[in-house]
Amino acid sequence: MSAKPVILVVDDEKNTREGLARALRSDYTVMEAENGLRALEWLETHHADVVLSDLRMPGMDGMTLLTRLLSRDPRPILILLTAYGSIETAVEAMKRGAYDFLAKPVNLDRLELLLERALAEGRLGEENRRLKAQLEEKYGFENIIGASPAMQEVFDIIRQVAPTRTTVLIQGESGTGKELVARALHQCSPRAPGPFIPVHCAALAPTLLESELFGHEKGAFTGATERRRGRFELADGGTLFLDEISEIDASLQVKILRVLEERQFERVGGTQPVNVDVRLVAATNRDLKQMVADGSFREDLFYRLYVVNLALPPLRDRDGDIVLLAQHYLQALAAEHGRAVSGFTPEAMEALSAHAWPGNVRELRNVIERMVVLSNGGKLTVRDLPQTLRTRSGQPDMTSRAGRRLRDAERHMIEEALGRHKGNRTQAAADLGISRRTLHRKLNEYGLRETRET
Ligand SMILES: Nc1ncnc2c1ncn2[C@@H]1O[C@H](COP(=O)(O)OP(=O)(O)OP(=O)(O)O)[C@@H](O)[C@H]1O
Ligand SMILES: [Mg+2]
Repeated sequence: MSAKPVILVVDDEKNTREGLARALRSDYTVMEAENGLRALEWLETHHADVVLSDLRMPGMDGMTLLTRLLSRDPRPILILLTAYGSIETAVEAMKRGAYDFLAKPVNLDRLELLLERALAEGRLGEENRRLKAQLEEKYGFENIIGASPAMQEVFDIIRQVAPTRTTVLIQGESGTGKELVARALHQCSPRAPGPFIPVHCAALAPTLLESELFGHEKGAFTGATERRRGRFELADGGTLFLDEISEIDASLQVKILRVLEERQFERVGGTQPVNVDVRLVAATNRDLKQMVADGSFREDLFYRLYVVNLALPPLRDRDGDIVLLAQHYLQALAAEHGRAVSGFTPEAMEALSAHAWPGNVRELRNVIERMVVLSNGGKLTVRDLPQTLRTRSGQPDMTSRAGRRLRDAERHMIEEALGRHKGNRTQAAADLGISRRTLHRKLNEYGLRETRET
């Protein structure tokens, strides 16, 4: 690396900006902006590797800046500087895609370590991103929106397996986009000109499902007044999507296994084998491996399907995607319903980001549609949110990498606050902007109990 990495320092206090600039100048090219708006203006025409921003500033605050930066490509690494009292906001910011946060006054050693690590991680990701950018639109792939590392991995797998004939098993909670991914696998394959035939296995009784899949001969059963082609035949040359595959009964499991192995089958009531060229994609929201262990799903069929396992992460594990999806759906649905809704207030977006979304993307879409339809225009606020989202539920996930970083930073802030107040917990808690009870809980959690109680 020849050129120095560029750091944009965003803070309304001139002293802070200049102090940081002085400290970092030897290793970095340091630029300054006095609020989020100025930072964005500068970024229109320049590149920054890292944006080091204060949270509270007049003009545009750090949280809004973060939201705007998320849609930029390439996206600079954002590190937030927080005054005491904004720990909760800093936590939120990390959940929404900030890299890390540091308490003010900034410990320069810590800052330098953080910058080194952030830039090293960023460089690794950059190579991949450049290659991907040629293949896809900004933050999506075949209509699938996702900038999170978790979804980027999914896109990688789709890209790798789509051109092949391999069977793919898509697993994921309800509403995570299994059908969307199945369609993308078809669209990105040489079979794209052929048919995509979905079958919802749970919707039909077993005998009906059998004739739906394999078709039947005239007179095969009462009501079979003529020969009918099944979905396997209809999917010839294309892709057959078996949704909710866990719901098919044992005898059908055997028949599907046979088609996969021999590429042929007989229609119900028929004796002539029918040959088909079908690519099979299956989906389930259940733990199929567990079902094999329980004996409710055939092991041999499982392994036939499991050739490629595509696990779709729940929405709550997709860092930053809630913001992207919310903005996408707001625009699309406002246009669809003819509403002049222009965006979300930062608080509303914060509440959306904090929600656990058990119904995943489908739930998010429904919530936004409801908000758009009921809104009187302008920005959607916390008051437009359904009741369940107005109460805070989302605790940050402390097991992820971001979660661990968050824990470290939080622990550090607590130690510093206690140091500043010579172990006085009441004052430290007030300083951190959390209740004394919360502080007490966190001290236990981090094993910081030995601190003097005053
Ligand atoms: N990443 C995404 N980007 C944009 N839209 C998405 C995304 N994921 C899901 N959706 C949308 O969310 C809705 C639910 O997706 P889909 O039907 O594919 O989920 P599913 O996993 O099949 O759910 P279920 O298990 O309940 O059948 C659809 O409207 C789909 O278009
Ligand atoms: Mg589905």
